[in-house]
Amino acid sequence: MSTWSFISASEAQTLELGIQLGRLLEQPALILLQGDLGAGKSVLARGIARGLGVDPRTPITSPTFTMMNHYSARLDLYHFDLYRLSNPDELIELGFDDFAFGQGVALVEWPERLNNHEIPGLWIVLENLGEDSRKIILTGRGEVAMQLFDRLRKAWNG
Ligand SMILES: Nc1ncnc2c1ncn2[C@@H]1O[C@H](COP(=O)(O)OP(=O)(O)OP(=O)(O)O)[C@@H](O)[C@H]1O
Ligand SMILES: [Mg+2]
Repeated sequence: MSTWSFISASEAQTLELGIQLGRLLEQPALILLQGDLGAGKSVLARGIARGLGVDPRTPITSPTFTMMNHYSARLDLYHFDLYRLSNPDELIELGFDDFAFGQGVALVEWPERLNNHEIPGLWIVLENLGEDSRKIILTGRGEVAMQLFDRLRKAWNG
């Protein structure tokens, strides 16, 4: 497990981190986005979608009610927002495991709802420090995510 954190000073900077991550992704990949309401999870998700090559005219919105959006790009992208998940059976209906642990890229907002903080993947925590300042803490769990983590850190630090 490896961890790295930095401060994002603007929405644009968080978006740029997502774009860089999206460019580096190989399948399968699982990215878990934690943070309070308005922390910037969806901003990061939008960047990842852009970096993966989702058509820039396609709006990337939080799947708050549908719980999952699918986008076709360089790799298939499955964007989950589990905020409203009340019953684990809903995960089965969504086919969550097939998407999260199958091919393509799965992005999960509110992974707390899964009650499992050990899931292998790239965990990203966003903390609102006030105004436009966000602390972003990245942790690679498992071999595959740790390699992605290393490549992202190198790319980001230029
Ligand atoms: N440094 C920053 N990084 C990301 N977002 C920022 C930053 N500074 C300000 N913001 C603003 O914070 C908000 C983040 O909203 P976003 O929808 O991404 O949050 P979220 O974590 O997905 O919340 P929710 O759980 O409600 O879906 C946006 O309005 C964005 O403009
Ligand atoms: Mg969101």
